[in-house]
This record gives sequence, C-alpha cells and structure tokens, in this order.
Amino acid sequence: MNSSSPLTCITELFMITVEQLSFCYQSQGVRQQVLQDVSFQVKAGQSCAIIGPSGCGKSTLLFLLAGLLQAEQGRVRLAEGARCGTILQNYGLFPWKSVAENVALGLRLQKVAKAECSLRVRAALEEMGLAAFSRYYPGQLSGGMQQRVALARALVIQPDILLMDEPLSSLDALTRERLQNLILELWQERQVMPVVVTHSIEEAVFLGRRIIVLGNAPGRIIAQVENREAGKINYRQSSLFFQRCNLLRSTLLEECDVRQA
Ligand SMILES: Nc1ncnc2c1ncn2[C@@H]1O[C@H](COP(=O)(O)OP(=O)(O)OP(=O)(O)O)[C@@H](O)[C@H]1O
Ligand SMILES: [Mg+2]
Repeated sequence: MNSSSPLTCITELFMITVEQLSFCYQSQGVRQQVLQDVSFQVKAGQSCAIIGPSGCGKSTLLFLLAGLLQAEQGRVRLAEGARCGTILQNYGLFPWKSVAENVALGLRLQKVAKAECSLRVRAALEEMGLAAFSRYYPGQLSGGMQQRVALARALVIQPDILLMDEPLSSLDALTRERLQNLILELWQERQVMPVVVTHSIEEAVFLGRRIIVLGNAPGRIIAQVENREAGKINYRQSSLFFQRCNLLRSTLLEECDVRQA
C-alpha cells in the first residue's frame, strides 16, 4: 500500500503551484505593483513557457519561483524535494571566477567531493562546447558563450526544474535551435522540467507544453495555452505550430493595442 496521504498524492501531481500571487517592489519610497493575482499550475512531466510584454513582471515571477524573492500575497509551492536550477536574465555569473569555478558553484554549495565536482564540471562544459574555455573569465567570453556557461552551471546540479530567463536570447539562430533541442531532450529524456521565460513566440510554442501569457504591468495572466504537441517530432514544421504561433501573436498584439490606446 502507498504510505503517502491522499493530500500528498494530489499535491505531488503538480511540480509548480502558484496561487493568487501578487508582488510589489518598494524603491525610494514608491510602491510599484508588478504582479497581480497570478495563479497557475504545472503538472509533473510538463514544461512551461512564460511570455508577455517587456516590464510586465516575467523576471520577477521567475525570482519568486526560484525562492530569490518572497511573495507578499499568495504563494508559490514546488513539489517536495524538487531541485531547481536557475538561469537569470543577465546570466548571473561571477566575473571574478573562472568558467569552471562558476559552473562548479552549485556543486560546491552541495558539498560534492572535489574529484566528482571536476568530472561533472568537465562533462557539462563539454556538452556546451566550452571545454577549451574552462580557465577563462566571463568578461573574456561572448554573450552567447556566457549564456552557455550559465546553462552548464544550472545543469550540473541535475535539477528537477530548470528555471530560465531568456536563456537563448544572445545566440545565433542555429545555436539557438540546437540548444532549444537540448532543452527538449532534457525534458523528455532526463525528466528535467523546463520553465522558460522568453520574448520569442516561436520559442514559447516550441518549448512550452503550457504557455502562460502575462499582460501589461502589473502582470496578470491574460491567457493560458494548452500546447499538447510541444516536444513532438516535427512539431516545428507542422501547420498546427504556425496556428498556435499566430494565436499567441494576436493575443499579445491585442494586449499591446490596449497599452497604446
Ligand atoms: N529590484 C527592483 N526594484 C524595483 N523595481 C524593480 C526591480 N526589478 C524590477 N523592477 C520593476 O518591476 C517591473 C517588472 O520588471 P521585470 O524585470 O520583472 O519585467 P520583465 O517582464 O522581466 O521585463 P523584460 O521583458 O524587459 O525582461 C519593471 O517596471 C521594473 O522596473
Ligand atoms: Mg525580464
């Protein structure tokens, strides 16, 4: 018999639960509401893309999911024991640490033994095509290379959830496609749940099994798209893919028109 309570079973179905989340920043005595009443859930085994106009609160939402900010109202719950890898919008690399040291950071925090740490760092750098740059410092790398270091650092801890804030925005089209496929592979073959913040409609439809569309600031959810075909072979070339992109484009355009009216 399964020893877990029925309540545990219900909550474990969802890797991410966000309930009536609102958030304000307070700077120089001014309160600015950034997120308003945001609720959504992502089931285990799914992936999630978050899209919306610039400044609507996507990065703030990711910070809240990562536990780097605390909710004032509402709450964020991740499945018990879920390990999160996080890639921040500006990569979040330490400029004074070498590429290898940056990638090793999460493992060091987990107190992984030095020898194992080196092996895992080397494997992650090889996977990202960065093996030759392990002794370089972030300032000596291109933007795209820094993004790949950030990806290696997030992956090396073997996360259950990979939170990514525009992780591929500085890459050329082909590298971007290759890394989108890698994210898909991590999701489908290694059961790492991707949560991708992106400005790219095509990327959201390619990677997001569930797409959360945020509206103008203060960010609230204006649509949630069930995108069951995400991750299927040849989806990118299908007419359904183009239909979904068009649907998403018109939802975002309508929201843009509201802002400009
Ligand atoms: N640390 C902070 N202190 C005060 N205000 C902030 C802070 N970080 C972000 N903001 C404000 O919160 C709002 C939402 O910012 P956020 O970075 O979450 O938006 P975003 O949707 O990620 O935008 P973009 O698509 O341009 O990356 C913006 O108006 C921004 O000025
Ligand atoms: Mg952002």
